[in-house]
Amino acid sequence: MPHSSTQEITDIILKAANKARQEIKPGQEKSFTNPVKWPIDCLVGPGLEGAIACESEIGYVNGSSGELIYRGYNVFDLCAYSNFEEVSYLLIHGHLPTAVQFKKFKKDLVSYRFVPKTIRTLMSFPVEEMNSMAALRLGSNLLRREFSYVDQRTYRPDYPPISSDEDSIPMETRPMGEKHAIYEFNNGKITQRNNKFSELNSPSGLKSCYQLISGVAAVAAAVSRMRQGHLPIEADPELSHAANLLYMLTGRKPTAVEERIMDVALILHADHGMNASTFATMVVASTLSDLYFAVGSGIAALNGPLHGGANEQVLHMLEKIGSVNNVKDWYQKARSRKDKIMGFGHRVYKAYDPRARVLGPLAKYLVEKSENKRSLELFNVATELEKKVVDTLGVEKKIFPNVDFYSGIVYSCMGIPADLFTPIFAVSRVSGWTSRVLEYLKNNRIFRPRAVYVGQFDLDYVPLNKRKGEKSDKK
Ligand code: CMC
Repeated sequence: MPHSSTQEITDIILKAANKARQEIKPGQEKSFTNPVKWPIDCLVGPGLEGAIACESEIGYVNGSSGELIYRGYNVFDLCAYSNFEEVSYLLIHGHLPTAVQFKKFKKDLVSYRFVPKTIRTLMSFPVEEMNSMAALRLGSNLLRREFSYVDQRTYRPDYPPISSDEDSIPMETRPMGEKHAIYEFNNGKITQRNNKFSELNSPSGLKSCYQLISGVAAVAAAVSRMRQGHLPIEADPELSHAANLLYMLTGRKPTAVEERIMDVALILHADHGMNASTFATMVVASTLSDLYFAVGSGIAALNGPLHGGANEQVLHMLEKIGSVNNVKDWYQKARSRKDKIMGFGHRVYKAYDPRARVLGPLAKYLVEKSENKRSLELFNVATELEKKVVDTLGVEKKIFPNVDFYSGIVYSCMGIPADLFTPIFAVSRVSGWTSRVLEYLKNNRIFRPRAVYVGQFDLDYVPLNKRKGEKSDKK
């Protein structure tokens, strides 16, 4: 029986699922589930609210009922019975794998956990001074070099490579003042250095999805280690994706419960419709750039505090509030300033986010087990704040906790530092990003919306020396 050693976690998920099923009114929103006949009419708000960008069979966010579906399966069932590797296979391939397919898939993923070139190169950067998402983005670019031959495939000059040995740098033989810059390559003499390029290592193929799913996790763990002044830890091929992530982060093999909770968190974050980072990924891919560039853009978009960056901000906010007794005053002040409360609200959900329905009880389970009394205090602050927000903004504007509200408490109880919360979101979302890109590329059309020009026309150009009067700069 799957997950038999972590039945208590399964029970928590099933209880959350039952509660959701009792509370929500089932039924799909026709405008987001009926097949599309292009071109279509739809009501579009600022920030492309309501815009339909494409059709997809990958996942569905039912914003009115608060349901999340991956390829036809409810996310609650996937959390209760599946695991991150199987969910990734499902998202990419469109169906649950057979035992043989799953064994092969897991073997592939394990083989791509080992990214020594990427990690070694990353170590030459001041990762400890970089924002962890910036380091992750850099790492995703280095993975491109490690896994695909695309960089090596490009034409390189027939010129001795610049090595770290100072004497071999061509500055010695090309004194200053010469026509060419010292590192300018002579385009006349070019040779193709590597012909190994094939569909297999196409930077927009299936293999690249697998490589990115494993590689981004390995990079995130290495980045976290380096930022804490430790050396990265080599992956363990015997462990599941979730357990290996925790192992590479901490150097300690996780307990079955820790592994399971990380696995559930990864499942919950794997895909979520046309969110900002998925859209960014797809826009880049639609130009026929490649998956590595596309995932780099996804990481960049996810970093913002209105999106994946909210999970880290939530923890800082709870720490700032400090104690349950301060919640009322803090919330009143935040409301009077019209501050956005981190971890609440969503463009699509006008109901309780199903991911928060699972992460909230998991956070409770962990803080009650934890010896760290501070985490229990923060959890109590969170639940008190949730009550206040739901009773006010929930009633007025349908604002409820989102996925980011409880995930940080879950991660901190597992010893994960706050600056890694958003990278972990990315580790999981790579499955959604890459599956959606693969699906879209089958019928690709470059994304190219328009802006309405509201500027001026017919201005006469005035030369610089004739311009008079200070005009304030437009912002
Ligand atoms: N706290 C207080 N008021 C809010 C909040 C919030 N968290 N979210 C929305 N509102 C209000 C907002 O002020 C506006 O009020 P009014 O109509 O009176 O001006 C109304 O609700 C609509 O808000 P909006 O900003 O137009 O909504 P949006 O769809 O553009 O933004 C959002 C969605 C998620 C960016 C926003 O709710 C927000 O900033 N939340 C806080 C950050 C956060 O938790 N982000 C994680 C999102 S879920 C995970 C993910 O996908 O990344």
